[in-house]
Parts: sequence; structure tokens; C-alpha cells
Amino acid sequence: MAVDPSRIVVLTGAGVSAESGLGTFRDKDGLWTKYDLAEVATPEGFAADPAKVHAFYNARRRNALEAAPNAAHVALARLGAAGAVIVTQNVDDLHERAGARDVIHMHGELMRGLCAACGATWAQQGDMEPGDACPDCGKGPCRPDIVWFGEFPYHMERIAEAIAACDLFVAIGTSGEVYPAAGFVEEARRAGARTLEINLEATGGRFDARLIGPATDVVPGWVATVMDGRG
Ligand code: APR
Repeated sequence: MAVDPSRIVVLTGAGVSAESGLGTFRDKDGLWTKYDLAEVATPEGFAADPAKVHAFYNARRRNALEAAPNAAHVALARLGAAGAVIVTQNVDDLHERAGARDVIHMHGELMRGLCAACGATWAQQGDMEPGDACPDCGKGPCRPDIVWFGEFPYHMERIAEAIAACDLFVAIGTSGEVYPAAGFVEEARRAGARTLEINLEATGGRFDARLIGPATDVVPGWVATVMDGRG
């Protein structure tokens, strides 16, 4: 049954950027096998050792700047241009650099800074360090504009509205381990949408269908079937 691209919600995770050379979190050699997330991805960790947290995100920001979007990002940008809503858990900007517009970054963005004092955010490509002054209020502390564990993800109302209205929900390259994103597939089922998972392997999510394989192999072909009305 053909689906209108404007009735599709896509959720991406680290697996869509894996073939661009950016690490995932929970795969073998994933980021959380090398770093203690409590130390580098929580407000408490930032308060305890801001220099360590800045060093962690400075390295990820540099990696993201050196990486290139892959064929999955390009195909999803094409689907987004046809009206699909792209929600990402990723904090890299590879969707945007592949041409996607209005991507919903529910976990924030590496390429933006945030003032913990006044809430201002700004474009941030260079390294950050403790003592940086907020460009708006002149105070701080300034931090990467990333949603840490224990903090509330961004744009949740907009995401809920999009899922409630969609006919097809597609999760690409995410392990489904972290809520609230992991619960989106159930929200979509309750809304009467079909659900599809694209991943190297089946995760625990209740999806109606699965396409198993690397995102750069599977996503372009799937987008092509949607765009010519076979999806
Ligand atoms: N193609 C498709 N899927 C892939 C590929 C690939 N080339 N490589 C890995 N994957 C899949 C893995 O099978 C796994 O299911 O991507 C998923 C990566 O899972 P995680 O590392 O848990 O990443 P993600 O689901 O995005 O994590 C969610 O957890 O730590 C937080 O905020 C962080 O946004 C992140 C959230």
C-alpha cells in the first residue's frame, strides 16, 4: 500500500551515522564502552568536572566536522523534502549536511552551545572550555547544547503531534534502549500507524516489518520505493 511521504515519521539513531565513521553508543567499541556516561553525559558529571565533559564533546564535535554524510542521510533528506518528518536522537549535523531541513534534534546538537545561566543557544563549531562566557549574558557556565541523561528531551510536543498524525513510523539505526524515543513505536501503533525498523539486527521494539542491513544499503532503496509509490 503506497504511503504519502508527508505521513511518514522517521526516527534515527547512531546507526545512521555509523558508516560515516561516527561511533555508536552500545555496539562493540561503542562510546559507552569507553566512557562512563554518568561522568560525561549528566548535569552532575558536568558540575563535577566541566573540563572532562568539554573534552568529551570537543572530540565528538571535531569527529563530526571531519565526517561526511552517507547515502542514508542523503536519501532521508530526499524523503524529508517530500514532507516526511525526521526526528533524530543524534547530535551530529550529518542530516543537515546531506540537505535535510527542519530536522528535530530531540537530544540537542553538538554544533550548538547553551548558557546554563540564561538559556541562550548559539552556533558552536570550535572547542568549548570551562570559563567560556555566554555571548548573551556574559556569564555561564556554558555547555554543549546536548540533552543529558536525567534532562527532558527537546521538542516532545511536536514529536507527539507528528506521530499521532502519521501513517508510517520508521526507526532507523537505533537500539531502542533509551526512552522516550524507545516508546515512539508504541505511540505510533496506538495512533494506527504501520511501523518499520531498519537496522543491522532486530531490536526489542514491536515493529510490523523490518529491513535488516546497513543503513547505506537499505535506506536508499526503501526511500526509492516510497518515492515511486511502492513503499
Ligand atoms: N546500519 C544500521 N543500523 C546500525 C548500523 C548501520 N550501519 N550500525 C549500527 N546500527 C544499529 C545497531 O544495531 C544499534 O541498534 O544502530 C543502533 C545503535 O544503538 P545505540 O548505540 O544504542 O545508539 P542509539 O539507539 O542512537 O542511542 C540512543 O542513547 O546514549 C544515548 O543520547 C544517546 O541518542 C543516544 C541514545
